[in-house]
Amino acid sequence: MNKRKILVTSALPYANGSIHLGHLVEYIQTDIWVRFQKMCFPKEDGHEIYFVCADDTHGTPIMLSAEKEGITPEVLIERVHNEHLRDFTGFHIEFDNYYTTHSPETRQYSEDIFTRLKAVDINLITTRSIEQFYDPVKNIFLPDRFIKGECPKCGAKDQYGDNCETCGAAYAPTDLKKPYSAVSSAALVTKTSEHFFFKLSDNRCVKFLQRWTREKNHLQPEAANKMREWLGEAGENKLFDWDISRDAPYFGFEIPDAPGKYFYVWLDAPIGYMGSFKNLCNRRGINFDEFWKKGSKTELYHFIGKDILYFHALFWPAMLEYAGYRTPTRIFAHGFLTINGEKMSKSRGTFITAENYLKQGLNPEWLRYYYAAKLNGTMEDIDFNLDDFTARINSDLVGKYVNIASRTAGFLVNYFDCQMADLSCEDAANILSQKSEEPKIPLTEELLGNASLIRTHLENRRYNLAISEIMTLTGKVNEYWDRQKPWDKAKQIDDATQKHALHMVSSETIECFRILTIFLKPILPKLAQMAEFFLNVEPLRWNDLWNTLPQGHQINAYEHLMTRIDRKKIDALISASK
Ligand code: MSP
Ligand code: ZN
Repeated sequence: MNKRKILVTSALPYANGSIHLGHLVEYIQTDIWVRFQKMCFPKEDGHEIYFVCADDTHGTPIMLSAEKEGITPEVLIERVHNEHLRDFTGFHIEFDNYYTTHSPETRQYSEDIFTRLKAVDINLITTRSIEQFYDPVKNIFLPDRFIKGECPKCGAKDQYGDNCETCGAAYAPTDLKKPYSAVSSAALVTKTSEHFFFKLSDNRCVKFLQRWTREKNHLQPEAANKMREWLGEAGENKLFDWDISRDAPYFGFEIPDAPGKYFYVWLDAPIGYMGSFKNLCNRRGINFDEFWKKGSKTELYHFIGKDILYFHALFWPAMLEYAGYRTPTRIFAHGFLTINGEKMSKSRGTFITAENYLKQGLNPEWLRYYYAAKLNGTMEDIDFNLDDFTARINSDLVGKYVNIASRTAGFLVNYFDCQMADLSCEDAANILSQKSEEPKIPLTEELLGNASLIRTHLENRRYNLAISEIMTLTGKVNEYWDRQKPWDKAKQIDDATQKHALHMVSSETIECFRILTIFLKPILPKLAQMAEFFLNVEPLRWNDLWNTLPQGHQINAYEHLMTRIDRKKIDALISASK
């Protein structure tokens, strides 16, 4: 069999903020996909699947945050790294490596890629002098977001560099009147400095990207359409060269042979994917080049938010292509999270951090399940509606799926010594469909008949469709149980036929629960683990769908798998987030 070799990444979160529910849309989504792939292509069968990420640690904002706290950037990023990893672990996001861009590996590949792009035969790096706002008190060039001034349109004071909160006008920071530094309040001056540029507007890049962005499903259809806008049609050239350097003082990597010049954070950030993977390779003896060198036959997938598509679908493949590396197999972009239909907001208490969510005692798998029920593989925004959240968890997840195990287990435990019946016995079909309204095929068969559809939905990241299929089936299992009225059979337990039927129906239902657990496992890994304990089975993989529990297999007594959401907890979370 063909062995898969897959490397998956999520975007690298900035090291100057906490992980919040918006971020988790991405990390949960990626984790579900990776867990699903690992279940389908287990390493015991020779497949290799790796999920790497890292903190994005460089840049002026991080330097300034550290300064404000009176610590070094190194100390700051170390602390944030631990917090991020704690939060991700809390949501069962299982990286093979969670690293940092402030690493020797990332430095090595940044220098390597820069040097190759600059080499005379490639010649895709150029220098140019540009004028920028300079803070004469802090002695730094300022990123746009630290520039304030008067609105060029209505004259409102203290407006940020891109749009006016008073009149709504949009403009460039250079248009602001009386610009001043949001860091030191000093009036800004303009100053000239020499910068390095990556020549994205070079004909080679433009041609390459016009092809690359359209072929082999590298991008989702709506992302490919965005590219048409950004790239223009064949013969057009709408791209700009990209400023990839910053002046000292800066927290980052100094550019080789250019004292006082640093790589701009967006240059080393995606290279952090390579750095993190290289670090993993060193520890586990994986062949880095097999995954990254040009001509690589392995698969490389990046999950990202729609806001950083430009970097991942244009700069990144162009950099890799001309520096002698492979380009991504596919880029999966997703939309933004809104809460109750609005942007997350501190004043409304909807700017919810991962830490706060967990601290209030909310179950991380509730969120995983809810996001999965919403994610559809496109770039559309997804809404976290607090009422819908409560309803879905309570009625679907707990009320339907968990319910199957809790209502069935007792019968096997009390009457059959915890043992499964022989579901393949000759009269099985007859017993299981003894009622005229029962379909002629056993329910387990019907569930298995939907396995390939569910698999396709998971593969295509249409988790919403997978969940709705799974929940339809879960509903059917509950209806089956109700129709079979096992409690009536239990009343006639001295009648051998009734007893046998009760054993068969209970076992069939437990087997259905096992199948549903496999379907849900990538989404609900901890719940699945508890279900595995209850079923008394080894960690379930996709192929176990067809390994029916044998006659005499002993399950464990049922212990509560998941509680319902108490709406009060959500209200407490909102208050705590204000
Ligand atoms: N550091 C860059 C990524 C570098 S990748 C080489 C960055 N960091 S971030 O912390 O701002 O965002 C990390 C990821 O989370 C991005 O893919 C971003 O789109 C995603 N999200 C951040 N806020 C989000 C929402 N509110 N909703 C959904 N995803 C969001 O960008
Ligand atoms: Zn204005």
